Amino acid sequence: MQPSWQRLKEHRKAWKGLHLRALFEQDRQRFARFSLTLDDLLLDYSKNLITDETLQLLLQLAREAGLEARREAMFAGEKINLTEQRAVLHTALRNRSERPVRVDGVDVMPAVRRVLARMREFSEAVRAGRWRGYTDRPVTDVVNIGIGGSDLGPAMVCLALAPYGRPDLRAHFVSNVDPTHLHDTLRGLDPETTLFIVASKTFTTQETLTNARAARKWLLARAHDEAAVARHFVAVSTNEAEVRRFGIDPANMFEFWDWVGGRYSLWSAIGLPIAIHIGMDRFEELLTGGFEMDQHFREAPLERNLPVLLGLIGLWYNNFWDAQSWALLPYDQRLARLPAYCQQLDMESNGKRTTLAGKPCRVATGPVLFGEPGTNGQHAFYQLIHQGSRLVPCDFLAAALSHNDHDGQHAILLSNFFAQTEALMRGKTRAEVEAELAAEGLSKSQIRRLAPHKVFSGNRPTNSLLYRQLTPRTLGRLIALYEHKIFVQGAIWNINSFDQWGVELGKQLAKAILPELADNAPTDRHDSSTNGLINHYKRLLK
Ligand code: F6P
Repeated sequence: MQPSWQRLKEHRKAWKGLHLRALFEQDRQRFARFSLTLDDLLLDYSKNLITDETLQLLLQLAREAGLEARREAMFAGEKINLTEQRAVLHTALRNRSERPVRVDGVDVMPAVRRVLARMREFSEAVRAGRWRGYTDRPVTDVVNIGIGGSDLGPAMVCLALAPYGRPDLRAHFVSNVDPTHLHDTLRGLDPETTLFIVASKTFTTQETLTNARAARKWLLARAHDEAAVARHFVAVSTNEAEVRRFGIDPANMFEFWDWVGGRYSLWSAIGLPIAIHIGMDRFEELLTGGFEMDQHFREAPLERNLPVLLGLIGLWYNNFWDAQSWALLPYDQRLARLPAYCQQLDMESNGKRTTLAGKPCRVATGPVLFGEPGTNGQHAFYQLIHQGSRLVPCDFLAAALSHNDHDGQHAILLSNFFAQTEALMRGKTRAEVEAELAAEGLSKSQIRRLAPHKVFSGNRPTNSLLYRQLTPRTLGRLIALYEHKIFVQGAIWNINSFDQWGVELGKQLAKAILPELADNAPTDRHDSSTNGLINHYKRLLK
């Protein structure tokens, strides 16, 4: 462990009863000192359980952990994904500069630009009605078939940027192997005007290929002609051989590369549904937003660096306050899928317990992430955040301007955004509760009985992110901000944030079980619970 780790432990011990209320009272400049902007994007981190000393120690930890060198290695295309021997270069996908980015000595930028040009050509053809289905009708509905990183990114972005989308060119997303997902999506769609994008980095993912085969059947049930497939199916993948084997002409394939992690891939051709929905110019604005955050992350000093601060503050709670979770709370209905997107980003990246040296990690790693848009969450799980026995650090996000303000309704949303972090910070003391109840006319004994339930301890930490409006560029910045935050934490825990072996075992076992479900014969190949479940299922089918 780095020397500052021990010092942070001691610093935490000395924290004792220090309350955020007191910190704000003692220092009128706290907001000014603990907030940071990048253009219109403001991060207010003043409502955290931190002092100058905390930040100094955390920054020292980052330096001792070699964060700066690790960051440079990523941007430089070194193979920092050690278990898969791959570079990690989602940043190259949004590199808007002339700077070359080399992997094994070869500049990847010409290939990146070539695919972007193809995406432009194709998305413009679809949007202009030049790309036609097998009966010569233009596309009205685009169905993306993919899962995990091949679904969550484009699905989240298409919803977030819907105000820039074309209402006559609808985007749909099918991910679950549950046949109901495809069934419900296709109900009401016309095969003659539906375009499928089969998105899979590996093109071997069971869910995606199963849904893609079912979609092809749906199309052919109407078209009765294999030639129709070429007009209605395109693929996004790194695996041309499998795309060909599936029956999609490689001429209709959009390529990306093994140095793009699935959960970091929305900036690649995986973003094709986004480009079709909002247009390629807007998609490129999203890339520009991501690029601006990359430059900031790479160049700003650590103490003025948004992803670094978010990462370090999160780590402070995770490792020194035993916080086990992190809540992402967008006060922005259009960001309804951001928590699910970030869940994969964070939990698949930093849900690890082995260090890069192959040794058990001795400290806690990635938190459990959850969230819902405000104000919905307030009426569901905020009770636990305000008065529960666990510490749940939260990020609150909001836009100053809505794309749909009706009669000042957005101000109501924002008043809640401001109020929640204030309430979590201040809490309500016993004396305040008693005074309130007395003013309501309650008797002394009633007050004594009720007061303990109405006390809020406060001192509950939050970050607030406030931006002008949810534009493609702002969204690009926000996504890249969270990508790099996760990178910062992974670097300090010394884990590989870019593999995901933990998802393999379940896949292997499901493959073994599937043939067992084909007949009625009871199974005894597993433990008694798994046997019991499978055999009960078989009985239910009789
Ligand atoms: O099972 C996990 C995972 O490998 C994710 O990392 C990935 O985003 C998802 O599956 C989909 O993979 P693919 O794009 O190869 O179909």
